[in-house]
Parts: sequence; structure tokens; C-alpha cells
Amino acid sequence: MSESSTGKISNVLIETRVFPPSESFANQAAIGSMEAYQALYDSSIDDTEGFWAQQATEHLHWFTPFHTTLQWNEPFAKWFVGGTTNVSYNCLDTHVLNGRGDRVALYWEGEPGDRRTITYAELHRDVCRFANGLKKLGINKGDRVSIYMPMVPELAVAMLACARVGAIHSVIFGGFSAEAISDRNNDAQARFLITADGGWRRGKALTLKQTADEALAKSPTVEKCIVLNRIGNQPAMQPERDIWWHDLIADVTDDCPAEPMESEDSLFILYTSGSTGKPKGIRHTTAGYNLYVKRTFQWVFDHRDEDIFWCTADCGWITGHSYIVYGPMSAGATQVMYEGAPNAPKEDRFWEIIARYKVSILYTAPTAIRTFIKWGDHHVEKHELSSLRLLGSVGEGINPEAWMWYYEKIGGRRCPIVDTWWQTETGGIMMSPFPGAIACKPGSCTRPLPGIVPRVLNHTGPAGELGDVETNHGGMLCIEKPWPGMLRGIWGDDERYRQQYWATVPHMYLTGDNARFDEDGYYWIMGRIDDVINVSGHRLSTIEVESALVSHPAVAEAAAVGRPDEIKGQAITVFVTLKSHEPTDEMREALKKHIRKEIGALAVPDEVRFTSSLPKTRSGKIMRRLLRDIAAGKEGTGDTSTLEDYTVLVRLRNDDES
Ligand code: WTA
Repeated sequence: MSESSTGKISNVLIETRVFPPSESFANQAAIGSMEAYQALYDSSIDDTEGFWAQQATEHLHWFTPFHTTLQWNEPFAKWFVGGTTNVSYNCLDTHVLNGRGDRVALYWEGEPGDRRTITYAELHRDVCRFANGLKKLGINKGDRVSIYMPMVPELAVAMLACARVGAIHSVIFGGFSAEAISDRNNDAQARFLITADGGWRRGKALTLKQTADEALAKSPTVEKCIVLNRIGNQPAMQPERDIWWHDLIADVTDDCPAEPMESEDSLFILYTSGSTGKPKGIRHTTAGYNLYVKRTFQWVFDHRDEDIFWCTADCGWITGHSYIVYGPMSAGATQVMYEGAPNAPKEDRFWEIIARYKVSILYTAPTAIRTFIKWGDHHVEKHELSSLRLLGSVGEGINPEAWMWYYEKIGGRRCPIVDTWWQTETGGIMMSPFPGAIACKPGSCTRPLPGIVPRVLNHTGPAGELGDVETNHGGMLCIEKPWPGMLRGIWGDDERYRQQYWATVPHMYLTGDNARFDEDGYYWIMGRIDDVINVSGHRLSTIEVESALVSHPAVAEAAAVGRPDEIKGQAITVFVTLKSHEPTDEMREALKKHIRKEIGALAVPDEVRFTSSLPKTRSGKIMRRLLRDIAAGKEGTGDTSTLEDYTVLVRLRNDDES
């Protein structure tokens, strides 16, 4: 039987390097050995509800205690039923009441170099004042509020103020177009939009209010638009509709008690792109989400009081929601928040920031790491990075070569790397090393977090029935049990939620990713299910072909896609960006030879195309779907609203670089 008919995905790239935590790291870690991790994990699986009930009682503040831990009416979960709490209370009041109000919450740095230090007491006051401003405008519990802002502290203030009064926020990344904003306003039926006159990005002023105005012309449900003065560019204000942030809070008090919210009241909607059709509004709720992001933050980053944590994501993405605002703030962490681009004014801005604030934990994305490699080591070497003790990665698979560079050049071989696998839908991290306990393997997200039961399924049965795959065979990654941070649905579309996540594999959450586990029980993400390439009956994962390419010294980034081929089923096209080398025919041949050596003849690309950049989503993921169309000579038909740079597509189509 050929591999494709059994649904197996070949695992072709074997990574054998293993990096256990140093003794000194393990000794100071909360979970400092494999036995400690295993004991915690086992206890969470033996009695999952009991485990989460105890976690929720110990780690959240309750106005009213819950009476039922979980009501599971597949696929709809209700956690901590009967209880009332408030996420903003857990992020702010708890610390102020515990005498920790003077702790720094945020060291914020604007792109032009302006700086602010904000304590928990100050953040609490700012959130209360803005929440009172929202109340003045007549906001009600359950109202939807769109937030379209640059990465300034007021973005976090706006989110926390919504949580405080019980309004549901929908943060829209500051790089989105007017069309994307109005689509989201209309889908959520937002009553309010919070924006700013602008923000700074790569030395340029982004005119957010102008874009917001265009969107508002097509957003009939939005009644009021609140505008923060960030760059002083004096946008047009519509008197009935628009109000300055500073005017709104000019005459309010600092006193605004947090509204007791039911555990399952919605906290936010976050839109994420589907491969076709309109974006999906992923809905998260109050208590389960709050508990999950707080505890996963503490576990994965082994967080300690003296840490300075820096997550480089934008609050417009789930990573910013969960690991800038709600997770770290619930844990009382001190963080760095940065407004701008990593190359403003120069390519060493991140390293300068780390040295200035003595950042101890850095959490960033593989796309950024590959960019830093391309820019060159000299930018890094200028700065003192010895404050770092832990590194993290999120958003895509990290190619082993990029992992090694991150480990050596940024971490000085001293810092474990937590490769965290999760999704907008999962709310928080699902698989990752516990850095003091689990040895890292470059490219693997290693093991599941407490309470999480991953399964890898494929059509393995004699008649093609679904079953668990064997060790080192790829399949569909699913999650077996509900967990507190899981999405509760798609806003306004229960049927799409059921179809998308619960219909393919009975009684399991379908992640949409392929994965395998190895002989040590480590998980390896192999890319999105749609991205698999099928060559002569061998199913190859995109990440493996790409990682092999990135291990060639001339290659900065690579994307591999399949295109129809009469003989082989699919042929492989790879799109490659080079570091500083010439895109010659010799280079093409050298890369093919390299793949033959690293993987074997079956993965040798039929076509190597050079390009100066790859099409990416605004959160930095390579858009293989668009590249598939280009490789097949088709005009793209799918949704491109999340594409970062349209000119990349035009250039790739025109073929002028390949
Ligand atoms: C991918 C981001 C490999 C994966 C938090 C997932 C990863 C999608 C990793 C979710 C990782 C995220 N290794 N792949 N460590 N982290 N992904 O919703 O395909 O923006 O399904 O959430 O990113 O992306 P999202």
C-alpha cells in the first residue's frame, strides 16, 4: 500500500540534538526535574476537573465561588459555573491590595525613543478612570468595543477597562485596512471604536484615525469613537461621534469597582483568518481563559518576581492578549512593551532594549529570528545580553538552524528555549518545554501542558478508519479533552464552530495542524493540514523541506509548496530568499544538491524560485496558500486581507526575481 493511501506523512528530517537545562537553571526552577513535570502532568490527567478546580480556587479571586467545575455539552464547554470574578481585578486590584502596587507593570518604549514607567497602582488608576469614561458614554455589560491602536500602554488600558465594566473587546491589529476594520465592526456589531490619531512604525507616522474614519463610514452600529492623542497630527473629529481620550477622562474619579462577571461571560472576540471566506471571530470567556493564561505563563516561563519579561508580539494578536496583557498581568509580572519596528532606527533596536531594561525572558517569533540572522550577527554582538535567562518562540515552527542561532547568539548557550505551540483558538500555550525540567530538541514543542491530552490521528485502519498513528508517523493533531482556555465558539456562528473544529474527528478538537511524536513522546508540528505536499505517494511536510533549506548557509528563508504534476501527483516548488548571495543557476543547483543530501531524492524541488521576500500574514506567518497558486500559475482567489505586503505578490507573479 502506498503511503498516501494509508494517510501517513513521511518524517524525513531527523533532528538528534538534545539540550537539557543546566543544573543551575533546573535548581532554581519551580518545576526542576522530569519527575516533577510528570507528577504534575499525571495529577492533571488522573482527575482533570479536580485539578482545574483546585487551580481556579487558588489562583483567581472570586466574588462568588463556583459550584460546578465543568459542564461539557460537546462541543460547548462551561467552566467554573456559578462563580463570578473579574479579569481586570485579577490583573490589577489583587496586586494593589497585596501591597505590590509599586511594582513596575510596564517599561514602555515608543519607537521615536520616548519612555514611560508605569506601576501596577498607576495602571489600576488609569484603567479605573478610562472605565469611568466608558460608563459616561453609556456602555453596558456585553457591549462590543473595537480597539484599533498602536502598541502604547493605553491599548492595554482600553482592554482592561472593557474587562472591568464587562464589555467585550475586539482588538484589530493596527496594520489592518479600513475594509478589515469595518468587516470586524459589523460582524461583532460594535457600539464603540477606540483608536488613536496615529502611531509610529519604521520612522513613519501611521494615520490610524484616518483609516478608522474610512471604516466608520461603513460601520453603522458604531456610535462613538474615542481617540487617543499619540502623535499629535490633529485628525478631523466628527463632533457628534468622536471624542478625545483625554477629554473623556478629564472629569472622572479614580474609583471604579470591578464588575462581578459570570465565569462564562465573554471577555473578548479576536478575529483570525480562515483559509477561505470571512474572518472568524474567536470567542473567549472570563474565568477559564484567565486561569489558563495565568498558569501557563507561570509554568512555561518559570516566572519569578525579579524577571523582566518581554513578549515582542502586538496586542492585536492572541499572543499579545494572553502573554502581554492577561497572563503576565495576572501574575504581577514586570514587562517591557515596545511600540515600533525591530529596525528602527537600526537593526539592533531589540538588543539595545534588552540591554537597557535587563530583560531576562524574551518571547518572539521565528519570522523575527530569521530576519535577525539575515541582518547579521554584528548587530547583536554590540550589546550586553547577559541578563537573559530564558528564550521563547511562537507562531510558526522554528527551523532547527534558526533555533541554534537563537540559542547560541542570543542565549549564549545558557538559556533554554521554550518552543510554544498553541493557537488563537486554544487561548494559551498547549505544548512547550517546562524549561527547568524538559530537555529541548531544536524544532520540537516537546510535551503537553497540564490537563492537555494531544492525539495524532490518521486513516490508519484497514478500511481507512481513523486511528492513532505510530511513533514518528505524521497525522492530524487533535486535543482529547476540553480545557479552561479553549475557545467557546465563533461569534454568531455555532454551526461553523462545530463544522470547523469538531466534525472531522468524532469527540475531539481538530487543531488543523499535522504533527508526529517521537520515541521520547516529544511532539513535532509538521505544518497546517492543507500544506502537506504529496510527491509520488510520499506525503512530505512543508516545515521539513523548509528547515533543510534554511540549514544551507546562503538561505535566509524558504517556503515549500506543492503544485500539480501529472506524473508525480505533486511537484515541489520552493521559494527562497538568500542572505546576501547572488541568485544564480549555480545556487539553484547547490540548493537541490543540499536537499538531496539532507532529506533524499524524493524531496528535491522541481523548481527553485528566488525572491527578495515571502508573502506573510501581518503576524509573520508565511502564506503558503498564495504561493501554491503562484506555483500552479493561478491567480489567487483566497482571502488576502491579512497579507502584510501586497507588492510581494505582484513581484512573485511577475516573476522578475526568479
Ligand atoms: C502555528 C499563534 C509550530 C500552527 C499563537 C498553529 C506553530 C498556528 C507554533 C496558530 C509552534 C503556532 N510550532 N507551529 N511553536 N505556534 N504555530 O492562531 O500552525 O496566530 O495552528 O496563534 O500557528 O496561529 P495563531
